[in-house]
Amino acid sequence: MVEAGDASKVDVSSYDLIGLASGIYYQKFHKDVLNWAEQNLPQGKRELFLYTYGVKRNGYLDAIKQIAVSKGAKIMGSYDCPGFDTFGPFKLIGGIVKGRPNEEDVAGAVSLFRHCIKD
Ligand SMILES: Cc1cc2nc3c(=O)[nH]c(=O)nc-3n(C[C@H](O)[C@H](O)[C@H](O)COP(=O)(O)O)c2cc1C
Repeated sequence: MVEAGDASKVDVSSYDLIGLASGIYYQKFHKDVLNWAEQNLPQGKRELFLYTYGVKRNGYLDAIKQIAVSKGAKIMGSYDCPGFDTFGPFKLIGGIVKGRPNEEDVAGAVSLFRHCIKD
């Protein structure tokens, strides 16, 4: 596992399947993850995306997908679930979706990963 913020020089070219994971920040993957992908994703990899959000909406994958597609990625799938969120006004009420991701969420992500390595 590579932390996007401090691993800009990690070489992932020998991996068959690359998972990109992030919380959602201002409708996108965190900028560190987007920057990392822009700079480090090799061409033509199989990729999957994992993310947590405070409020479910469409389009959270658009920016990361655009980068992946520009690098000729084969997108294998994505998994998302709510994640504890204390952003902005939610702080006033102690946050929303406390306790997520839970075991079931993690199991769902593992199952996507298993499915991808079989394909
Ligand atoms: C500055 C900031 C911006 C956020 N923007 C969004 C957003 O646009 N949409 C959303 O659903 N959640 C948003 N969230 C909530 C996070 O996506 C959520 O808490 C996520 O689980 C964080 O994951 P992480 O702690 O692994 O980074 C935001 C949180 C913060 C702190």
